[in-house]
Amino acid sequence: MRIPFGTLAYIGALASFAAPVAAETVTSPDGRISVELDADGEGIPFYSVTRDGKPIIAKSNLGFNFIDADPMRRNFAVVASTTASADDTWEQPWGESRFVRDHHNELALTFEEKDDTPRQITVRLRVFDDGVGFRYEFPEQDHFKTANIAEELTEFNLAEDATAWWIQAGDWNRYEYLYTETPASAVSTAHTPITMRFADGTHVSFHEAALVDYSGMWLRRMQGTNFRAQLAPSPRGPKVVRDTPFHTPWRSIRISGDAAGLYESNLELNLNEPNRLGDVSWFTPHKYIGIWWEMHLDDSSWASGEKHGATTENAKKYIDFAAEHGFRGVLIEGWNKGWDGNWFGNGREFSFTEAYPDFDIEEVTRYGAEKGVRLIGHHETGGNIKVYEEQLEEAMALYERLGVDAVKSGYVADAGGIIADDGKGGETFIWHDGQENARHHLKVVEVAARHRIAVNPHEPIKDTGLRRTYPNWVSREGARGAEYDAWGSPKNQPDHVPTMVWTRLLSGPMDYTPGVFSLEGRGAEKADIPSTLARQLAFYVVIYSPIQMAADLPENLAKYPAALDFVKAVPADWDQTHVLAGSVGEYAVIARQDRGSDAWYIGGVTDENARDVSLTLDFLDPDAEYVAKIWADGASADGLGEDRHAMTVTTRKLRKGGTLDLHMARAGGFTVQLVRSGE
Ligand code: NOJ
Ligand code: CA
Repeated sequence: MRIPFGTLAYIGALASFAAPVAAETVTSPDGRISVELDADGEGIPFYSVTRDGKPIIAKSNLGFNFIDADPMRRNFAVVASTTASADDTWEQPWGESRFVRDHHNELALTFEEKDDTPRQITVRLRVFDDGVGFRYEFPEQDHFKTANIAEELTEFNLAEDATAWWIQAGDWNRYEYLYTETPASAVSTAHTPITMRFADGTHVSFHEAALVDYSGMWLRRMQGTNFRAQLAPSPRGPKVVRDTPFHTPWRSIRISGDAAGLYESNLELNLNEPNRLGDVSWFTPHKYIGIWWEMHLDDSSWASGEKHGATTENAKKYIDFAAEHGFRGVLIEGWNKGWDGNWFGNGREFSFTEAYPDFDIEEVTRYGAEKGVRLIGHHETGGNIKVYEEQLEEAMALYERLGVDAVKSGYVADAGGIIADDGKGGETFIWHDGQENARHHLKVVEVAARHRIAVNPHEPIKDTGLRRTYPNWVSREGARGAEYDAWGSPKNQPDHVPTMVWTRLLSGPMDYTPGVFSLEGRGAEKADIPSTLARQLAFYVVIYSPIQMAADLPENLAKYPAALDFVKAVPADWDQTHVLAGSVGEYAVIARQDRGSDAWYIGGVTDENARDVSLTLDFLDPDAEYVAKIWADGASADGLGEDRHAMTVTTRKLRKGGTLDLHMARAGGFTVQLVRSGE
């Protein structure tokens, strides 16, 4: 295979006396994306990116500030260069596609300071057809032993202004914001993934992969369209503390000619390490219900007393409903001690093993097992990871003994308000996305894996593709989910999900908890949720997660049998995924093939505008005829109006290449199930 580098200078082992190496350019396997990596006249390491010759990222500097050492920023020379290429296809144990192709060209340049006590840093760069990833590697070396990183100076210097979709970083509500659409030149400090579209339709999304033992990266606009990494803070002073040798997470840039390509990219998964857990067939993708929405409606409480939701009796009612309708799991929140009083940002009273007196966990799990239903465990921490880590082992062991193989956790605390052990037995306050909490999440994932338990954190650290390495990290929240439709002000707006598809959801699965059939929020006024009934169904296809909740109260789910039929049928694990149509912030139509059968499912959602879409089904098997069952907004349906429940369910026969013309009401949507005739 041709390795498409400009000047290729290979120096095997690092040699401090090595002569400077010339500028390097590496291109994607299809030759369209080209990245230059070099040190400039002042010895500042930099990179730049073009696609089809058009600048995407102009010259962008690389480097670090430390709290106790000179910056690594200028006075470097390139002393070594290695190249590699890969074209592998690997299999996901579960996912939105079964097989993932990792096809890239790699270049690693080692930069060395031009002085008497030179420090070295390597930048490893991988260029794929759908984007670019690079990371810093700090080799073992004589003149640099510990990196006390004050700031990472990585720049992302956008070559021209663009439209950006983003949420603010460093603000109190972590990742739970409605997205803002502005020119890139008007962004302040944003979380990743942040997505941008140039005037010519090129889509770019910035994120990171394999966030391990490091602080999460925010993007801060410095000037014009020049962005720079800003690491999540730490109370210690340095944002990251690591001994050499170590490497940073990958900084990733998805690049695509259209919105569909941006979504279909697996860039961050490809930049993560392969599965370290081996056989994880003990995790089964599934759907679940839970003692959950009733608390968000304030019909019952997490706290003990009169209104306590998590009682043995109530749990059995949910288990009965789950058994009747084929839901594998029942989530029960508020069964354990610690919910009385103020647990938010506190969590000091939580016990993860002791139940309130009106909840008999042995009996509930026994009853569930008898009915073929699993309890889904819950560990709300109130953001107190000190208390949680002290009990982690016994908490997971209890669930394992009771046959609980999935646990939802929660870190409800304001940003910067996570309580951690200060190393002396006292408390220190850290960030949800700082280095210390990145460590915490992986610790939980590893302990859970030993107990064959899958985890689903809410108020989590962002997803950076670690599910590839730790496939028991199955889902997370990390954005505004359906709970905001109960009590949020405002509720999730119609453009929220069509924006998330191309921002938050690029990073991985989300436990959005769809399926609120009542379309009513909490309180006496039961404020309208901006959605049609058909849209709630579309979420099961559009928002990927291997665990999907049917969030509403059982009696509300039962009130809409045609909708419930769809939720019962829709898979939670897929063989392949294609975006059929869409535009960031406006609408999304996604087709996925069931991993367990040949059936296809299509989901579509729109923003505050009604929309007609015409879909050509060119992905179907040419030799088969399919029965298409369509759940669509009825003629009178209006997700922002009076009639939000009008829904039609129709069937017709279709073949490959056939077309489907579908209408979506304002804040509406649709789903289609395509099953081979005769099956
Ligand atoms: C916030 C979570 O997102 C929600 O799902 C959960 O019910 C509450 N925290 C309580 O743990
Ligand atoms: Ca939340």
